[in-house]
Amino acid sequence: MGTATSRTGFTTQALLDLESAAASFMGTEAAVHLPSGYMGAAAVLASMAQRFDVIFADEASHYAVFDAAAASGKPIHRFGHCDADHLTALLRQHLRHGQRPLVITDGVFALLGDIAPVDRYIAALADCPAAAVYVDDAHGLGVLGDRGRGTLEHHGLGAANRLDSDWAGNVSLWHSATLSKALGGYGGVIAGSEGFVEMVGRSSDLVRGASPLPPMLLAGSTEALRLVRNESGVRTQLHVNVRQVKRGLAAMGLTVDQSPVPIVSVATGDGPGMQRIQQRLLERDIAIAYFGAYSGSKPGGSLRIAVFADHTTEQIDELLSALRAVL
Ligand SMILES: Cc1ncc(COP(=O)(O)O)c(C=O)c1O
Repeated sequence: MGTATSRTGFTTQALLDLESAAASFMGTEAAVHLPSGYMGAAAVLASMAQRFDVIFADEASHYAVFDAAAASGKPIHRFGHCDADHLTALLRQHLRHGQRPLVITDGVFALLGDIAPVDRYIAALADCPAAAVYVDDAHGLGVLGDRGRGTLEHHGLGAANRLDSDWAGNVSLWHSATLSKALGGYGGVIAGSEGFVEMVGRSSDLVRGASPLPPMLLAGSTEALRLVRNESGVRTQLHVNVRQVKRGLAAMGLTVDQSPVPIVSVATGDGPGMQRIQQRLLERDIAIAYFGAYSGSKPGGSLRIAVFADHTTEQIDELLSALRAVL
């Protein structure tokens, strides 16, 4: 069953239900759903293009973020990965009087698993009138923060029930996320104040022109949001599993941060060597990804372990002992 038309022509109840569930999950006044998370950055930056003049981007940001930045036609300066001091230096160097900066970043980096220091970026923008920060929180939603609202909540920025300019004094906060990662649903979501969401819905051709997902996929995402919201044991178990994996890897001498992010990157040796490790684990029915080239990857690429809430203690022990044998 398809949707037959863009949402401008007809809006299904399933779509409205999902948008209302997303707003309630994120603690915002409203939300708009997109057929993919990749489209979120493009929709936000295109809609808000009149509100910024110069872009400052974390150099390891996802393709979706850089594509959106390039489409805006505004100048782009790249700062070091998660480096707020470098951002401050670039702001001093490149921002002319009266220009409005936009800082863009992933919330949680797809490959590296790092959490963007959004609070430090806001502090770096304190002296800039009319600054904005855009966070693509594809990998933060459903994982970080007390209620799983993502990177902004992790940094204590998630308590307010509005996004946009009320959040951080002179700094507007815009974000989008995907339901396709931790939630196991599908599609992107942009959440915020009524005014912000209305603005994006009204001015983004992506929102107006793309066919929404078929109702059964939308309903699946709505149910996923309900589940993660009401059954907090799922996220608690995820964090228990993440701790077990990360402590195990640290005990093997690997440098691993101890954040609750369920993505662990291991870069060891060269690309073919890592592909051999991936193959040897697969022979033991353990599937981990190898990314040769991806946004944020180092030369040679990286193995990437994704931890799930329903992995058992025994399965994680098995992963760790297999890694001990092959690394
Ligand atoms: C930061 C970021 N944005 C967007 C996407 C794409 O999201 P989707 O797969 O829902 O289109 C990803 C996927 O990994 C991502 O990491």
